Amino acid sequence: MATVFITGGHSGIGLECSRQLAGRGVNLVLAGRSPDRMREVAEELRARNGVEVAMVALDTSSMASVREAAQTCRAMIERGEIAPLDALICNAGGRFDGPESYSPEGYEMTFATNCLGHFLLVELLLPAMAADGRVIFTASGTHDADSMDGRLIGAAVAPNAVALANDGKNGAKPLSVGKRYATSKLCTVMYAYELARRLEREGSSIASIAYDPGSVTGTGLVRDMPAAVRWVMSTSLPNRLMKLIGVTTSTATFSGAALADLAVDPRYADGTGGYFQAKEGKLSKVASSKVSYDEQLAQTLWHDSEQLVDHS
Ligand SMILES: NC(=O)c1ccc[n+]([C@@H]2O[C@H](COP(=O)([O-])OP(=O)(O)OC[C@H]3O[C@@H](n4cnc5c(N)ncnc54)[C@H](OP(=O)(O)O)[C@@H]3O)[C@@H](O)[C@H]2O)c1
Repeated sequence: MATVFITGGHSGIGLECSRQLAGRGVNLVLAGRSPDRMREVAEELRARNGVEVAMVALDTSSMASVREAAQTCRAMIERGEIAPLDALICNAGGRFDGPESYSPEGYEMTFATNCLGHFLLVELLLPAMAADGRVIFTASGTHDADSMDGRLIGAAVAPNAVALANDGKNGAKPLSVGKRYATSKLCTVMYAYELARRLEREGSSIASIAYDPGSVTGTGLVRDMPAAVRWVMSTSLPNRLMKLIGVTTSTATFSGAALADLAVDPRYADGTGGYFQAKEGKLSKVASSKVSYDEQLAQTLWHDSEQLVDHS
């Protein structure tokens, strides 16, 4: 029986993925910062599917919390409470509307939550993975400034880790919320590709995959937006409108199932280095943005991210 570690597996797309995995007999490690909700989901999955569900406290915006979570998970494996991980799904994330905010270590909240936390988590959990394990990074079509998804939210800027971590500090004009989100997802795609290259060079058979779940309404992603916007987003209208103008649309159920497929389905065993997109009920390997394939930029992003997490 496989074991999958998932961040943010108790809500939205992650919850649908957890349900799919549990339905296929996969044991889960739910990692997140909402213990009550995680407990409810763990109980639901155990009762319905008879699988084992462990829980790990994790706030991806805090490097201290990431270190503690990784340590907890590795100790559970050493004690034989859970098996080595067949997949690590980096799914948690958000957009942070309202004034700029900073993580406990002083990094801009979007970049810390969506990028640095998962970057460090992957580094610390790679030794806890099974030989043919898979790391899946939930990115977003918004990472591509040339796509309608990207244009709508605010085109991603250069994937410069130091600038992004310090965005809006010392009186500098901050990026818009949308640009911060889109750029964090560009960095996510580039982490996935760079990790795939590094693992391949090391002769590792662990896969690293980037994933775009498509635009999915009804999840918690818009939680910081005004109530009226949240209400509109919970109806079917935005999905239909977005589809009409060329945005990549999907549903939480399908995108969660597709994420589960990427994590454990043998059809995606050779998916390393790929970018997969859920769109209208179909999961396909597609091209990501042009800049995301820039290996030099990815190496710099990786190096700078290492420095940022090392100094935290
Ligand atoms: N919905 C879309 O249209 C869409 C499109 C493309 C990509 N995505 C990506 O898909 C992923 C899932 O999003 P969703 O739409 O399913 O939204 P969601 O329902 O809000 O799920 C996000 C999850 O991330 C968790 N999370 C947020 N900040 C965290 C932190 N600091 N530490 C630990 N966990 C944290 C949340 O936990 P709490 O419950 O504790 O807040 C929640 O479980 C995200 O990475 C998102 O960027 C979504």
